[in-house]
Parts: sequence; C-alpha cells; structure tokens
Amino acid sequence: MNEERTFPQLAEDLDRLERITEDWSPEQRSTLTAIRTTIESIQAGAFRSLIKTIKDEPGGLDALKKAVGDPWVHGVLAYHGLVRAPAPTPEALVEQALESVRPMLASHNGNVELVEIVDGTEARIRLEGSCDGCTHSDVTVRQGIETAIKDAVPAIERVKVVNGRRGDALVQLPGVEGSPFARAWQDAGPFDLTEHEIRAVELEEASILLTVAKGQPKAYRNACAHLGMPLDGGAVEDGVLTCPYHGFQFALASGECLTAPSIQLPTYPARVQAGRILVQVTT
Ligand code: FES
Repeated sequence: MNEERTFPQLAEDLDRLERITEDWSPEQRSTLTAIRTTIESIQAGAFRSLIKTIKDEPGGLDALKKAVGDPWVHGVLAYHGLVRAPAPTPEALVEQALESVRPMLASHNGNVELVEIVDGTEARIRLEGSCDGCTHSDVTVRQGIETAIKDAVPAIERVKVVNGRRGDALVQLPGVEGSPFARAWQDAGPFDLTEHEIRAVELEEASILLTVAKGQPKAYRNACAHLGMPLDGGAVEDGVLTCPYHGFQFALASGECLTAPSIQLPTYPARVQAGRILVQVTT
C-alpha cells in the first residue's frame, strides 16, 4: 500500500517533476502548461460548485469555515483564488511599520523590536543598540516609531518603551547574560551580498533568508507564506522573489507578498557589525 505523502512532500515531488521539464522544448513545455491550466480550471470550477452547494445547506457555512481552517484545504483553495488570505494581525502590521523606520535607526546602529500589544491599545517596544539609552530616545519614539505604529494600527493609543533604560543589557550577545526579553544576535555570515541577492542560512530555531535592500541587510523566515516551502531556490528579478513551488511573489525590500498583498514574510531584526550580518531570531 502506498504511504500517504505529506503536503510539503507532494510539493517537493511537483518541484522535482517540473525540473525534469526544464530541458524540454518550448512546444513541449507549452503543451504541458496548457494541460495543467486546463486541469486547474476544471478543479477550480468543481471547487466553486462544491463551495456553493455546501454554503446553501443549513449549517453549511460553518462547516465550510471549519474545513478552510485546515492548511491543506486553505492552501488549495487559495491557489485557485477561492479564499481570501487571512487579514494581517495587529502584530504583523506593527512589525511592518517598524520595518519602515529600521533603516533610520540602523544608520545610528540602533534597532527597535515589538515586545507585545496590550489590550489592543498599547504597543510595548524595546529599543536596542545605540538607541537604547540614547538621550534622543524619547524624541525618536514620539516622532518616528510612534507615528509609524499608530498609522499602521489606528486602534493603538499608546506606545511605551519597556526595558529601555541606559545600562540594560538589551542587545544580548552570545554568552552574555541580559534581559529575559533579549534574544541573542546570531552571526549569519559575511555581509557580502549584493543588492537583492538571496542566501539561506540555518540559525538556531529557524532557517533564514538573507538579502540586501537599499544597502541594508534583511532577514526573513525562509518559508513561503503560501505553504511554508523554502524560498531560497526562487528566482529574483527587479527586487521580487518568486517562490519556486507555486509562484507566489514577494518584495525583497519589505517581505510583502505581491500575490496575496495582505500577507507578509515574517521578518527578523538584522544589522551589520564588523562586516558580519547579525540576525535576532524572534519567535
Ligand atoms: S509554497 Fe506555494 S507558492 Fe510558495
């Protein structure tokens, strides 16, 4: 009896099969594409009909929502454009906002990290590097970070800096005791990437995709926002990375998914020190 394969294994199978066709002639490849497009159209039509039938049944909508909670079902329906990507969480929106101010902070060897959002109205952040304890921290927070956060999530009324006093060991280097909130900056290799070049590195707890945008290092989780497959085999063109599995596209400058704009690659703080890229793997 055939062993049932997992979704990632099936995606890998598909990738392997697609690689075989790379040497085929253009005619053969366009025939294959036509076959696949036709099959996908048939499947999409069948799924549409199935969804409509289930929705029209009493209690059908609830059953459908439950089914879509399954990652396999969601992945397939999303592939066919039949479900919307989940709305980004306030944490993801704040993270995106912080990403926009990080280049400014990085120019002062500083960084900022979201610690938590309390009651949906208070964002607690932590300043790192030279921003920690800087006499200009209050101004920095009020004028830059706070504005970016509130613009991204209007429900947030207050932005509070926690554990940001001068002398707190907020940047915890390997082997150094620090704040319980601090996470180690891990060495992710030399800062020798060219603009939009990508490289995968395995750090503690995570596989990271490194790149460079506008001269600044960027670190994303090396897992596609579609089905979690690794992104490092993807093609890059004009700052856009295309996932090698099903073609989802991501802006390398921000991690934004261009295929489903409300989702985002998880981003990690990254900086350069002594010619090395340092990444802070947050969960
Ligand atoms: S895993 Fe499907 S597009 Fe990336």
